[in-house]
Amino acid sequence: MSLSAQSFGYVAELVRRESAVELAGKEYLVASRLAPLARAAGLEGAHAVDRYVNLVRGRREDARRVVEAMVVTETSWFRDGAPFRALPRELVPALGLRRRPLQVWSAGCSTGQEPYSVAMTLLDAGINDFDVLATDVSARVLARAAAGRYDDLEVSRGLPDSALGRFLTRRGDAWHVRPAVRGRVTLRRHNLLEPGPPAHGRFDVVFLRNVLMYFDLRTRGAVLERVRSVLAPDGFLVLGTTETPLGIDPAWVRVKIPGTSIYRLLGGPA
Ligand SMILES: C[S@@+](CC[C@H](N)C(=O)[O-])C[C@H]1O[C@@H](n2cnc3c(N)ncnc32)[C@H](O)[C@@H]1O
Repeated sequence: MSLSAQSFGYVAELVRRESAVELAGKEYLVASRLAPLARAAGLEGAHAVDRYVNLVRGRREDARRVVEAMVVTETSWFRDGAPFRALPRELVPALGLRRRPLQVWSAGCSTGQEPYSVAMTLLDAGINDFDVLATDVSARVLARAAAGRYDDLEVSRGLPDSALGRFLTRRGDAWHVRPAVRGRVTLRRHNLLEPGPPAHGRFDVVFLRNVLMYFDLRTRGAVLERVRSVLAPDGFLVLGTTETPLGIDPAWVRVKIPGTSIYRLLGGPA
């Protein structure tokens, strides 16, 4: 399986333009992720991926498929634990009760484990007045999130038995998120390169985890600036544990909660 520099350059530029995801140095990843698409298009042989790239050039629907094949959609339930413990214990109390419903945005939600974990966390804490908006650039992962259907391997990744029993039901060979949780999450296609999605007011908590890490520094700055414009002045930004806005966008101050990477806007409440 080979990939010419020209094909790689085309795919890297397409994916950068459509999702901001950086592929520099990842020729092998591009070749291996596009190989199944080439096969599905009936192309075989050593140059199948190159021929596939030539085939999809300029074809909008196929280009979207290429972008979707290249984004990393790795996720799990209650990923990293600490942010989900902090949400009802520290973030919601700090926001106070005056502004309800609580508005949460899970940006880059992948197959839904993150926004459903948020909904389960809030319901478990007795907080019923909330909306979760979950967005992703990939229609493929959003369709999976909308189905709310997970296999045994997927539920084994982070979902405690207690939550499994209460919030999902077994049908056939899969687990289904119950309507009480599914109905609390609104799913929308949204590209973080575009202005933030509308909310009823601004978002109180934005989960933007394990997404910025795939962007170059300039794009991270631009995305953080957009998040600022839709975050309430006293709202919280929850990043992946290895991610930080520091050194990229000076507008943020860290909220010191162990095991988390949570920020508030400078000039907002301490
Ligand atoms: C690694 S997953 C993280 C999922 C979840 N936030 C978590 O931490 O488990 C990254 C997600 O970001 C999405 N993504 C990548 N580029 C994006 C963009 N420009 N706009 C919106 N979502 C994007 C991908 O499709 C993918 O589902």
